[in-house]
Amino acid sequence: MPLDKTYLDIPGTTVFDAEQSRKGYWLNQFCMSLMKADNRSRFKANERAYLDEWAMTEEQKQAVLARDLNRAIAAGGNIYFLAKIGATDGKSFQQMAASMTGMSEQEYRDMMVSGGRVMTSGTAGGLPNSPATDAAQQSRASSPRGGRARVTASVYTSHVPAIGVAIDQGKTEERYWKPLFEGYEFSRRWLHAHAPDVVFLVYNDHANAFSLDMVPTFAIGTAAEFQPADEGWGPRPVPKVIGHPALAAHIAQSVIQDDFDLTIVNKMDVDHGLTVPLSLMCGKPEAWPCRVIPFAVNVVLYPVPSGRRCFELGKAIRRAIESYDEPLEVQIWGTGGMSHQLQGPRAGLINRQWDNQFLNLLIDHPATLSKMPHLEYVREAGSEGIELVMWLIARGAMADASGGPKPKLARRFYHVPASNTAVGHLVLEEDPAS
Ligand code: DHB
Ligand code: FE
Repeated sequence: MPLDKTYLDIPGTTVFDAEQSRKGYWLNQFCMSLMKADNRSRFKANERAYLDEWAMTEEQKQAVLARDLNRAIAAGGNIYFLAKIGATDGKSFQQMAASMTGMSEQEYRDMMVSGGRVMTSGTAGGLPNSPATDAAQQSRASSPRGGRARVTASVYTSHVPAIGVAIDQGKTEERYWKPLFEGYEFSRRWLHAHAPDVVFLVYNDHANAFSLDMVPTFAIGTAAEFQPADEGWGPRPVPKVIGHPALAAHIAQSVIQDDFDLTIVNKMDVDHGLTVPLSLMCGKPEAWPCRVIPFAVNVVLYPVPSGRRCFELGKAIRRAIESYDEPLEVQIWGTGGMSHQLQGPRAGLINRQWDNQFLNLLIDHPATLSKMPHLEYVREAGSEGIELVMWLIARGAMADASGGPKPKLARRFYHVPASNTAVGHLVLEEDPAS
């Protein structure tokens, strides 16, 4: 159960949050389709048939057919999307608003002309120092953990597509690949013994879910499931990823209210950046052993986020997880890197010394490491070495970054090469007392 949804108490008001938007995904997609004249005519010609083309619930369809906007909003609709139905019917926003109030259009218009609806209950809740806000913040800061979620460990690993191909095609025993996969044997056993309920998996999309139409800096997957992307060779033959919509929506709310900008993603496919780390850590199971919240970071299109911001974001994600009132064990994984360059005359660059110093600092001095400017990643670890900045999100989520005890290093591994890349891997276990 998510905490701190104080906005659920506002009378006569549905706040359109990540949970509502997931619930209303197809209803709102249907509404968007009415922005095309051709679709408007098809809808008007046979509403039921047109609605049946969409994966909407019967309740949502009935709400649309009845033009019952309150019912549509309860079913996950948002007024800006629903307004496309009104527009198709030739209605104004004022007519649509009136329809939800129990007043006639004339009464509603008259009310607006006389100054609008008068505030009858509640306080100026959004102003600073309002008692409700302070109380909510205090209870969150001081309440004992009780049945709350916990961060139990962080895992760091590279994510080369060729590693996925080697696993999928049964090549892990070949001479080229054997030393790499042996390096992960301990970690597969470790994960089996320390299976979490949820992995919060920080990775980057490689032009598969996000085209250049929109490139979010930080995107959290709030869907119930995510399919492996077809990156051009067909989707990897791996299980679909089962998400944790309630925890993801809670993290989105907490982290955004903690001043970080996240993009909420209700639908996306996940590429090798996410599935290869799962394969490395879990092998080839029928189903992934736990739920996974995908968290995509833009490291493809400049500007990319700084190490410092990633580290601070990790701390905010920890706060969010620890304020979720279900006793879930959550691991946070940082993926990508280590040194590699996939482009231009410098392609193939590997910088072992720099990579190992990065690992040293990440383990023992992450706050210092977080100050390293992004150009140093690119200069020293190659243009795609910038993926390493994502490891600081996972590291920032460990207790010591927020004044708690240091984690225990359970595994450290480094290997060159996998395709064009130096592979690095760490497992840090949280002190159970933290
Ligand atoms: C390779 C590495 C990557 O991180 C990636 O996203 C694509 C390719 C490689 O080494 O081939
Ligand atoms: Fe990559």
